[in-house]
Amino acid sequence: MNIVVVGAQWGDEGKGRVIDLLAKKMDAVVRYQGGSNAGHTVIVDGEKFVFHLIPSGILHPGKVAIIANGVVLEPAELLKEMEELRTRGVAVDNLFVSANAHVVMPYHKDLEKEEENIRGRGKIGTTGRGIGPAYADKIARRGIRVGDLLEKETLKEKVEINLKLYKRLLGYTYSQEKLLQELLEYGRKLEKYITDSSALIHNLIEEGKDILFEGAQGTLLDIDHGTYPYVTSSNSAAGGVCSGAGVGPRAISRVIGVVKAYTTRVGEGPFPTELEGEVGNLLRKQGSEFGATTGRPRRCGWFDGVILRYAVRINGLDELILTKLDVLDRLEKVKICIAYKFKGELIQSFPNRFSLWKECEPVYEEMDGWKQDTSKATSYKYLPLPAQNYIKRIEEIGQVPIHLFSVGPQREEMLSTRELD
Ligand code: GDP
Ligand code: IMO
Ligand code: MG
Repeated sequence: MNIVVVGAQWGDEGKGRVIDLLAKKMDAVVRYQGGSNAGHTVIVDGEKFVFHLIPSGILHPGKVAIIANGVVLEPAELLKEMEELRTRGVAVDNLFVSANAHVVMPYHKDLEKEEENIRGRGKIGTTGRGIGPAYADKIARRGIRVGDLLEKETLKEKVEINLKLYKRLLGYTYSQEKLLQELLEYGRKLEKYITDSSALIHNLIEEGKDILFEGAQGTLLDIDHGTYPYVTSSNSAAGGVCSGAGVGPRAISRVIGVVKAYTTRVGEGPFPTELEGEVGNLLRKQGSEFGATTGRPRRCGWFDGVILRYAVRINGLDELILTKLDVLDRLEKVKICIAYKFKGELIQSFPNRFSLWKECEPVYEEMDGWKQDTSKATSYKYLPLPAQNYIKRIEEIGQVPIHLFSVGPQREEMLSTRELD
């Protein structure tokens, strides 16, 4: 059984904790896109781990952890993350890094910073990790791959071309020799982890092993299907698995969407159900909605059913896992957006025009809140009735079952809804 887990909103849905839960029964966990723009939180016995590049399943001893070809990475960041895990007693011996993953270079970060400054008020609000420029160079066929770090002559040639280009186009100057030495040093440190990840995954599949594909970001941040240009630069929707890990579509048995009981977004861009006042602040406070990578406050809003239906379609979701239900505990009333209104017209499905995302009005359905602490609930049947109704309503809107939901960030705070079936 090979499972894909993707974010069904704008990221930070709680994918890390879901991966941690599912990884227990799987043999390997694969990151297939994005880079250290991701921040996936797992809390084990009160101890917090935030993963940026390394698959969140690595906390389970013996699992194979793979950073596949679709990822872009800064070697220094990866080595730092590995070291931090080691010092906390987590083995990284089963970690593999694709030779075809791309390297984020210093000029990528510099370019991104400059571009954001030029955009000014229209900035994307990136995580500043050089992700966009690294993917741009990959597509332009001049990117430096992790495998190149092991081949001095190839690396030298590629670095030279890039430095010439960046100098001519942007006036950037870097010491070629220094950069080359640094990269070669990273290569030496990473050598034993570097592999043909697609072949490795293929072999695992042939052996009948179970693989979990860990999506980063979320559907609405997908470069093709998200709120472009306010997106990340990779295919974060489920389709990204095939190209990002080198597996055929038939290898995927199940696609799970992770969805928060409300909506958040970090960075700029359209967000129809955003709440700027008291309720938004309450959600941010109750949900500790501050970026796991940059610490920025996340924008918060009501649950958006239009986006959910869109995520179901784009990813082909088989089921949903609903997180952070407890964050709504204090609210008198809760709202779910079921459609948008644009110039008096009712829109049921997610539009694909920028002006509509920006200007559409959410149409809400109001439901009773539960005004009770759900974080102590030990099963679905002990949830207050309005909370059960809220879960059922999200299932109805998305037309997909919710098998699991969470009422707190700890491992044991994930509960089953099987009574619903
Ligand atoms: P990811 O990027 O999708 O892995 O999500 P993040 O780790 O960036 O953000 C999710 C945050 O919510 C983390 O701080 C989690 O510890 C926290 N979290 C996850 N599930 C729950 C939950 O059910 N209740 C509460 N209160 N917090 C949760
Ligand atoms: P996880 O995996 C939430 C957002 C940034 C910005 C946009 C582009 O933790 O859910 P980038 O640095 O990727 O070029 O920024 O995408 N973004 C995320 N938002 N969660 C993430 O990852 C994100 N990764 C990128 O805030 O709006
Ligand atoms: Mg995150």
